[in-house]
Amino acid sequence: MDAEVTLTVDGTRHQLPVDTRTTLLDLMRERLGNTSPKKGCDHGQCGACTVLLDGQRQLSCLALAVAHDGAEITTADGLAPAGELHPVQQAFLDNDAFQCGYCTPGQVCSAVGVLDEVSRGWPSHATADLTGEVELSHDEVAERMSGNLCRCAAYANIVPAVQQAGGAR
Ligand code: FES
Ligand code: FES
Repeated sequence: MDAEVTLTVDGTRHQLPVDTRTTLLDLMRERLGNTSPKKGCDHGQCGACTVLLDGQRQLSCLALAVAHDGAEITTADGLAPAGELHPVQQAFLDNDAFQCGYCTPGQVCSAVGVLDEVSRGWPSHATADLTGEVELSHDEVAERMSGNLCRCAAYANIVPAVQQAGGAR
């Protein structure tokens, strides 16, 4: 069964009929030609497909397009204007936080989501002090980014990249 959905992806509005079983990930990659979000596991275990959905990080392989009619999606590709880098993207470059880069778009989107969650004071399982400001310690970043796997094991540089982007020392 098809349903009409309208989605804004990286600033461009799309209105199209989709099979109601279509995930946001497949819609973006196969219908819209946006290959920034990557398909790793296709069942919510690796984080490679992470995008920002109405500003919050979301695994696009687990989200049905029809359930998000009218949503605004930002992929890593759409995070910065042409010719510029988002501070998280710059921090990944500065810290050599990738090797093959397959997980990187998901890592970057997730990190943007993490920094927003931290700025709102949302605690994680690793937050020691639930009443003060969230400190971007190694454990805090590692816990918050733990849904994003890196098969190249670039974690040692991903954590400092996220800390740099968040202004942590
Ligand atoms: S492809 Fe979505 S979590 Fe792995
Ligand atoms: S850089 Fe290769 S999977 Fe992360």
